[in-house]
Amino acid sequence: MAHNIDASNAMTIKLESILDELPDMPQFIDDIRRAPKRHFSLSKSDTVLALKNALRYIPEYWHDMLAPEFLDELLTRGRIYGYRFRPPGKITGHPIDIYKGQSVEGRALQVMVDNNLDFDIALYPYELVTYGETGQVCQNWMQYLLIKRYLEELTREQTLVVSSGHPLGLFASSPDAPRVIITNGLMVGMFDDQENWHRAAALGVANYGQMTAGGWMYIGPQGIVHGTYSTLLNAARRKFGMSSEGDLTGHLFVSSGLGGMSGAQGKSVEIARGVGIIAEVDDSRIQTRHNQGWVSKIVDTPAKAFLLAKEYQKDKSSIAIAFYGNIVDLLEYAVKNNIPIDLLSDQTSCHVAYDGGYCPKGLTFEQRTDMLKTDHNGFKKMVDISLRRHYELIKTLVRRGTYFFDYGNSFLKAVFDAGVTEICKNGRDAMDGFVFPSYVEDIMGPMMFDYGYGPFRWVCLTGKPEDLEKTDQAAMSCIDPERRFQDKDNYTWIRDAKKNRLVVGTQARILYQDALGRMKIALKFNDMVRKGDIGPVMLGRDHHDTGGTDSPFRETANIKDGSNIMAEMAIQCFAGNASRGMSMVSLHNGGGVGIGKAINGGFGLILDGSDLVDNIIRRAITWDVMGGVARRAWAGNKNAIETSIAFNQDDPELNHITLPFIPDEAMIEKLVSDSLDKN
Ligand SMILES: NC(=O)c1ccc[n+]([C@@H]2O[C@H](COP(=O)([O-])OP(=O)(O)OC[C@H]3O[C@@H](n4cnc5c(N)ncnc54)[C@H](O)[C@@H]3O)[C@@H](O)[C@H]2O)c1
Repeated sequence: MAHNIDASNAMTIKLESILDELPDMPQFIDDIRRAPKRHFSLSKSDTVLALKNALRYIPEYWHDMLAPEFLDELLTRGRIYGYRFRPPGKITGHPIDIYKGQSVEGRALQVMVDNNLDFDIALYPYELVTYGETGQVCQNWMQYLLIKRYLEELTREQTLVVSSGHPLGLFASSPDAPRVIITNGLMVGMFDDQENWHRAAALGVANYGQMTAGGWMYIGPQGIVHGTYSTLLNAARRKFGMSSEGDLTGHLFVSSGLGGMSGAQGKSVEIARGVGIIAEVDDSRIQTRHNQGWVSKIVDTPAKAFLLAKEYQKDKSSIAIAFYGNIVDLLEYAVKNNIPIDLLSDQTSCHVAYDGGYCPKGLTFEQRTDMLKTDHNGFKKMVDISLRRHYELIKTLVRRGTYFFDYGNSFLKAVFDAGVTEICKNGRDAMDGFVFPSYVEDIMGPMMFDYGYGPFRWVCLTGKPEDLEKTDQAAMSCIDPERRFQDKDNYTWIRDAKKNRLVVGTQARILYQDALGRMKIALKFNDMVRKGDIGPVMLGRDHHDTGGTDSPFRETANIKDGSNIMAEMAIQCFAGNASRGMSMVSLHNGGGVGIGKAINGGFGLILDGSDLVDNIIRRAITWDVMGGVARRAWAGNKNAIETSIAFNQDDPELNHITLPFIPDEAMIEKLVSDSLDKN
C-alpha cells in the first residue's frame, strides 16, 4: 500500500515545493470586507470527511497543527479557506512579464487569476470571492498556490484540468488544444439542488464559480457597465419609444446594489445621461464605488435622494446617487409620496437570497451578517417578509407607469420562493415565466443575443494603458456605426471608453460585439501583436452571452419552444470551443441565478501574434457566437432567423445552420381547439 511519503515523492508540484515552511497566519486588514458565515449543517461524519478532504493538500507533518485550525474555520466560517496559505498583502494582476512560466498562456492566466482576487476588485478577497456574493476563483488558498505553480509549469504540450477549484493535474495534449479546462459546481441531476450543494461545498468538493469568477475572466465592474448601459438605453427605447439617437436625459432609474456587478449601475446611468438612485445597505461598497467615481453623491435618507434626483432631472443633467439604506425603504417613500420612477430594477444577490445576498428590510447590513451566523431560520423568515413587501411596492409603482424589469438576479424567482404565487404568469409555478419581464426576455434577448451581440472583452497583458488605448482605437475602426442601432451604441461606447475611466484592475475593456465584429477585432489585435505594436492580449467574454449559457430565468428567458429547460447549448459551446483550441474553456453550474438553475461556460484566448491563433479566431469565435444564434433561430426567434439566413449566405462552403419553417399559429390553434373540443 502506498504511504504519504510515496505520494509526496511522486509529486514535484505540491505545497512542500512551493513553501519552505508553514506560513504564519496572515493579518487581516480591517476594512477589507469578509464573507459572512456560510450555511453549515454537516453531520459529524461529514465534518470528519471535510477535514480529511482539506488535509489532502497538506504534507503529513503539518496535519496535527492544521487539523484544529481547519476545523475552527469550518465551524466559524462554514468553509475551509486555508487562510494561512494566502500570500500576505495585496494580490493584484501584474504585467505578464512579472510572472514565471513555460508558456505565454500559463503566464497570462496567472494575471487573470490574480486580478480576480485584487482587494480593489474582489468582493471578499480573503475568501477568494470575486463577485455575486459567492462566486469564487477556487475554494481555498491551497488550491490557489497549486494552480499558480501549475500555470508556471504548464507547457504548450499540456493541459491543466481544474475541477471546482481543485487542480487535478497536467495532462499531455498539443499546442492547439486548450491549455486549461475548468469546471465548477457541476452536479449529477438528482443531487443538483441547494441542499446537496451546501453539503458538497462544505465538504470542499464543489466551487461556486458564478460565471467569470471561477472562469478567471472577471475584469472588474467595467465588465458589466456596457451591458447595463445598453439595457438602460433599450429599456427607454421600449418604454418611451425613444429613438436610436436618444438617451436617458431627464429620466429616473432606481435600483439596488453597488456590489460586484451591480456596482456598474451608477456609472451606466451616468454614461446614458440619466439620473440614477441606487440603494445599498453596505457602506463599504458605497465608499468603494464613490472612490472609483462610479457614484457621485451619497445620501442617507430617501427624501434627500429623490430631492437631489429631481433637481438633476429638471436641469437635464446626469448623476448617480447612492442611497445608503434598504431598497424597500426607498420604494416605500416613493410610493407614499407618489414620486414617479421611469425605470426600476433590482440587483441584490437574490440568487442566494437566504445566504446573505438579500438584506431584509428592518436589518442593517451588520445585523444581517450577525443573524446569518446566529439565527439562519429567523433570517430566512425576514427575507421572505421583505421580498413580499418589495413586490407589493413594485406592483403599485408599475400600476402608476413605472417600467420594472428583473435584472437577472433571480429576484422574481426569490419573490415566488417567498410564497407569492401571483407573480407567476400561470398563478401556480415558474414554468410559464413571471408577470414582470426579465431584462433578457424583453431587451437583451431580442435586441442583442438573437443577433449575436454579447459581452466580448479583452485584457492588455502588459498592463500598459497605451496598449489599451491602441486596442480601443483599433476596435473602433472595425465598427460601422451605420449598420445597425446596436453598432451605433457600441461605436459610441468604445469611442468614449477612455474618457469614462472604466478601468479597475488590469488594463481591460468590454465591448459588445456580434460574431463578425468579434472576429474582425480579434484578427486585427493579433496582427498588432504580431507586428509588435502591442504586447499579448487575453480575449474572452462573460458567460452571460448568446451561446454560453442555458438559463431559463435569464439568458435563455426568450427561448419559447420549450427548450429553455435544456442545457445542451452551453455544453456544446464549451466542447466546440475546446475542440477549436481556445486557450482556456470553462463550464459552470449556477452562475448568477443559483445552483441547478443554469449551466454556463466561457473561454479565454491568448493572442500571441501567431498564425495558429488567427486560425483559432476564425473557427472558434464564429462557433462560440453562432452556435447560440443557431439555437435561438431554431426556437423561432425572428432576429436570430434573419441573422442565421445572412450567415448561411455569407460562407456557404463552410457554414450551414438548420432553419425553422414557422407555421401559421392561428391555423394550429384552431386545429387543436377544434380537435380537443370534439373529443
Ligand atoms: N449587472 C448585470 O448585468 C447582471 C447580470 C446578471 C446577473 N446579475 C445579478 O445581479 C446580482 C448582483 O450581482 P453582484 O455581483 O453585484 O452581487 P453583490 O453581492 O456583489 O452585490 C449585491 C449588493 O446588493 C446589496 N444589497 C443586498 N440587499 C440589499 C437591499 N435589500 N437593499 C439595498 N442593497 C442591498 C448588497 O449589500 C450587495 O452590495 C446577482 O444576483 C447577479 O447574478 C447582474
